[in-house]
Amino acid sequence: MLPVLNERMESATAHAKELLSKLSLTEKIGQLSQFGTSIYNNKREYFPEHYPEGKIGSYLTVSGAQITNQLQRDCQEKFPTHIPLLFADDVIHGYRTTMPTPLAQSCSWNPSAAERGAEVAAKEAYVAGLRWTFSPMVDIARDPRWGRIVEGYGEDPYLCSRFAEATVRGYQGKEIGEKYHILACMKHFIGYGACIGGRDYNEVDMSPQTLYDIYLPPFQAGIDAGAATVMSAFHSMNGVPCTGSRHLLTEVLRNECGFDGFVVSDAGAVPELIPHGYAEDWKDAAQKGFQAGVNMLMAGDFYNDYLPQLVAEGKLTEQEIDEALLPILVLKILLGLFESPYTDESEEAKFFFCEEHLSVSREIAKECVVLLENNGILPLQKNQKVALIGPFADEKDHVLGTWSCRKDPEKTVSILEGFRKAGVDVTYAKGCDICEGCDAKLSEAVEIARKSDVAVLVLGEGEDMSGEAKSRTDISLPQIQLKLLDAVLETGVPVVLLISAGRPIVVEDFREKVAALAYIWQLGTSTGDAVAEVMTGRCDVSGRLSVSVPKSVGQIPVYYNYPSTGRPALGKIWYETGYIDENAHSRYPFGYGLSYTEFEYSDLRLSANEMTADGSITINCKVKNVGKRAGKTVVQLYVRDLVGSRVRPIKELKGFEKIDLDAGESRTVTFILQARELAFHNEKMEKVVEPGRFRLWVSKDSREEGISGEFEVV
Ligand code: GLC
Repeated sequence: MLPVLNERMESATAHAKELLSKLSLTEKIGQLSQFGTSIYNNKREYFPEHYPEGKIGSYLTVSGAQITNQLQRDCQEKFPTHIPLLFADDVIHGYRTTMPTPLAQSCSWNPSAAERGAEVAAKEAYVAGLRWTFSPMVDIARDPRWGRIVEGYGEDPYLCSRFAEATVRGYQGKEIGEKYHILACMKHFIGYGACIGGRDYNEVDMSPQTLYDIYLPPFQAGIDAGAATVMSAFHSMNGVPCTGSRHLLTEVLRNECGFDGFVVSDAGAVPELIPHGYAEDWKDAAQKGFQAGVNMLMAGDFYNDYLPQLVAEGKLTEQEIDEALLPILVLKILLGLFESPYTDESEEAKFFFCEEHLSVSREIAKECVVLLENNGILPLQKNQKVALIGPFADEKDHVLGTWSCRKDPEKTVSILEGFRKAGVDVTYAKGCDICEGCDAKLSEAVEIARKSDVAVLVLGEGEDMSGEAKSRTDISLPQIQLKLLDAVLETGVPVVLLISAGRPIVVEDFREKVAALAYIWQLGTSTGDAVAEVMTGRCDVSGRLSVSVPKSVGQIPVYYNYPSTGRPALGKIWYETGYIDENAHSRYPFGYGLSYTEFEYSDLRLSANEMTADGSITINCKVKNVGKRAGKTVVQLYVRDLVGSRVRPIKELKGFEKIDLDAGESRTVTFILQARELAFHNEKMEKVVEPGRFRLWVSKDSREEGISGEFEVV
């Protein structure tokens, strides 16, 4: 439900209805149309030909206080309706100050940090005239070949849901219309991450149970947190394109999930119903998109051109147009656009890259680094001579990641700069470019490695190797980077390998050859400061995987919450549910990550050994830092329904808490498990909590045994 006080909602709705009564059909349909911008005759244009009839209600990818004010003035002076324009953009992980990518943020397992990041992004977007972002992307992703895995919060419904609600709150504030806050948009409805083969835009085919139990929960969490808008997806779901599916966009999203905002199509998704083979022509596509429940069409005139004809032909009614427009007008009113359509142009400079925003980006980034291997070489010691090598070691743009909106790479702290600021005795050589290089560069890197105590290599993917339309069949490091790594390894100097990428990279070739291995993802503007703080041990390394890491592309899809089979992996090859050339397990499981200290779990206590289907159980577990230094860990609660009317996952995340303990310190972590959280959809698609035995674990990741107990639902 939209986070708005009842009386405000009532008055906004009354105002919207009064507006509707005065609009012509053309003007109403103009409000359902969103445009980008384009270059005509070397001049940036904003479709002025549409002004006289008010055929524009919103712009995307137009931002900046000056231009948005100019267009608002045009709207007031030249549009017949004077209904203020709604400006939107892809503020996915920051507007100017770039936060870590969403995938990186999900590895922080700190939703409140993501909420703060979203607040910063909203504030910077707001002073640039934006009132709406196409974020959060809450598509569950189990296939790292898919380029857009970088934009979401990983493979697990529970973790992704916590980040969905946190970012919605961060963008929108407590109530729609708060200053420095903007509308959120959950995308892409629905199931985009399950595209077959990891191929972007490809068809998705899944059971309704999987759709409801795995892919829908993050959207439901965002709706419950008050998300104002949803974006319909490009792909077809079980043969019906999402953007043309009334079942998905109206029956499921609105009637079942209770969504009461508005739906915007993805860019081009309405006319793409034609190449899908789902619509005859543009008019048919416009009708199908509109009747499915797409309130606003992104990028184009298809509604402007065809909805009037469809109404004239009696295929649509003006009342249906009114119903589609109402939530859009209500939200424009709630945003305060009618009272104050303009943005204070003096505020932009005050906020972009201000110290407070940089501090937020730094604090989040520090928590996203996932340490996968460490033979003790980390944290780096003060007096060590460090050779810093690799195409991302002194890089300011690629480390911002994809969809970095109105980025400014000059403001990025590179890792080399971060090391120098931290007082590390560092020498630098690039060694190679991202995908090509030469022996001379390689030798230079080898030379500085030979003269150092440790070599820190920063390898990975360019920001253009993940994101939209960036799926890959091979998710290893580029050959030239592997050559550089081998050359440095040959020196015998211990290697710390940091991987900067938009997806989990396969690490089998080298994981046992390096002294330490970490994913630093793409950490944004404060990359260098964050990496330096973690590498030097000024803070603990506390990221945990939100996605499973496959041993090879051949294992994909591989994820932690899979159901058992009739022949589960019992360690005997002929019973393994694996392959004759590889077993079934990921290299690193969901939830995995090392700290610089160790933690022990003990004293697991359940408040009861059974609960009714509407009951709850309180779970307490003592966690102790048994190492020699302070550190953070993510205490994770997993549950398994041992017998169900449908086979159930061998583990499901049902709670987590990130805690900070001094050396020797213990703390009791408490989880309250509601029986309703054990619900799933049965064969008849009823959402049920079935009686029976359950096992639970409190552990460091989804594979480690941790400490476990049993309970029953009666
Ligand atoms: C793109 C993306 C979507 C984005 C939109 C506007 O094609 O699929 O995520 O928000 O267009 O840029």
